[in-house]
Amino acid sequence: MLFVQKLFLALPLFATALASELSADGTDSVVPVSGSNMAAALVTTGDTRIYYQDSNNGTVVQIAVSNAFTVGHLENMVVVIPSDEVRYNTPIAVAAPGTQDSFTVLHIFFFSPDNVLSEYHWDPTAKALVGGPACTTCVTNEGFVGVAGSQMLYAMVNTATSSGGLRVGFVSASSPGTISEAVKTGNSWSLASLTT
Ligand SMILES: *[C@@H]1O[C@H](CO)[C@@H](O)[C@H](O)[C@H]1NC(C)=O
Repeated sequence: MLFVQKLFLALPLFATALASELSADGTDSVVPVSGSNMAAALVTTGDTRIYYQDSNNGTVVQIAVSNAFTVGHLENMVVVIPSDEVRYNTPIAVAAPGTQDSFTVLHIFFFSPDNVLSEYHWDPTAKALVGGPACTTCVTNEGFVGVAGSQMLYAMVNTATSSGGLRVGFVSASSPGTISEAVKTGNSWSLASLTT
C-alpha cells in the first residue's frame, strides 16, 4: 500500500520531465546543426554553452544544453554574434572557470573579417553578452591582428590569481611563425610572443 502511494506521487513529476524532453510523437528529435568550428564551456551544475559558426550564414550561435548529452537536453539556440563581425571559417575559443555555478565569467574569442582578435563577454550588470567593434572592455578594442586564415586560437581564465587572469593564444600578424598571447591583467591587455 505504501509502495502504491509513493508511485502515484512520483508519476506526475516523471511525466513532466518526459514531456519537456520528448517531441509530440514521443521520440527525442535530433537538433539540426551545420557549422564550422565550435567551442564550449560548462559550470558545476552541468549547464553547458556551445558556440559555433553557422556554415550557411556565418553567424556565431549559442546553444544552451542542460548537461552532458547522455542526460541533458537542448534549452535554446540563439545567434549571439552577427555574421558581419566574424571571419568566415574563424576558430572559436571560450574561457570560463569550471568552478563557478553559473556563467558569471564567460569570454568568447574569434577573428573579425579583417583578422582582428575579437571578444564577446558576459556583462553581469547588463545581464547580456557584450561585444562588437565599439566594445571598450573587449580585446577587440586593442586591434591585435592575427595571421589571415590561421586556425590557431585558445583561451583560458584563472580566477584564482590576480595576475595573468585571462589569456588568449593565437598567431599574431606582428610575429608570424610562433604563437603569441594576449594577456589581460587588471583592465589592461598586453601582447607577448612565446620566447625561450
Ligand atoms: C543563421 O543561422 C542560425 C542557426 O541556424 C539561425 O538561428 C539564424 O536565424 C540564421 N540567420 C541569421 C540572420 O542569423
